[in-house]
Amino acid sequence: MSEQRTPAETGPTPRVKVAPSVLSADFSRLGEHVAEVTRAGADYIHVDVMDGHFVPNITMGPVVVEGIRASTHLPLNVHLQIEEPDRFISDFIKAGADHIIIHSEACLHLHRVIHQIKDEGVQVGIAINPGTSLAAIEEVLCYVDIALVGTVNPGFGGQKLIPEALDKAARLKDILKERGFGPEIQADGGINADTAPAAVRSGATILVAGSAIFNKVESVEAAMKRLKDSIADVGGP
Ligand code: DX5
Ligand code: ZN
Repeated sequence: MSEQRTPAETGPTPRVKVAPSVLSADFSRLGEHVAEVTRAGADYIHVDVMDGHFVPNITMGPVVVEGIRASTHLPLNVHLQIEEPDRFISDFIKAGADHIIIHSEACLHLHRVIHQIKDEGVQVGIAINPGTSLAAIEEVLCYVDIALVGTVNPGFGGQKLIPEALDKAARLKDILKERGFGPEIQADGGINADTAPAAVRSGATILVAGSAIFNKVESVEAAMKRLKDSIADVGGP
């Protein structure tokens, strides 16, 4: 009897993609910063939406997403750190979101909200905080395009990566392989040239980086190059 292999085992190793988070950009020139990081080779633009309830910070709504949409051709990877995200999904899609990522902790009816997003024809992501077990998302992994493993507690840029979250990403990678599911694993928080290689080795195929890309020390272009160079030996880009 021939050995059964799942698509995840036989498929090519996915190229690692970089999604700069505009949370750390200069908001007085957000459009310029988005255009700059687009030219510097970003794959997606990561947009952190916060409501002051789910996380202790307030950031941007659909009108800001609309402004970002006008400044880049890249897919907008919108991370909703808000309670009851189902109330705002259509607004963010109308504003130009290509990926809608919701938190398992913020949804009572996770299956329903995931399908609400899929029905609108965009990619769907499910996120978990560092303190949340993989069990919270196991039943929906078959539906999603992205599984976001929070590698810091959400709410702010510039925090230190929590190493145990990468162990969790590695366990997620094994589960996906075992079941033959294909979502990307997105690591978000504390990713920089020092931590990115470990994140990729743990299975991350999308790296979110905010303060490592938008900072006062180096240009966006130099920061992007440094981050990409750091993972050149472990899978890309
Ligand atoms: C945290 C956000 C992150 C944040 C990452 O709530 O989800 O996307 O912008 O910022 P850095 O890369 O600075 O940790
Ligand atoms: Zn984020």
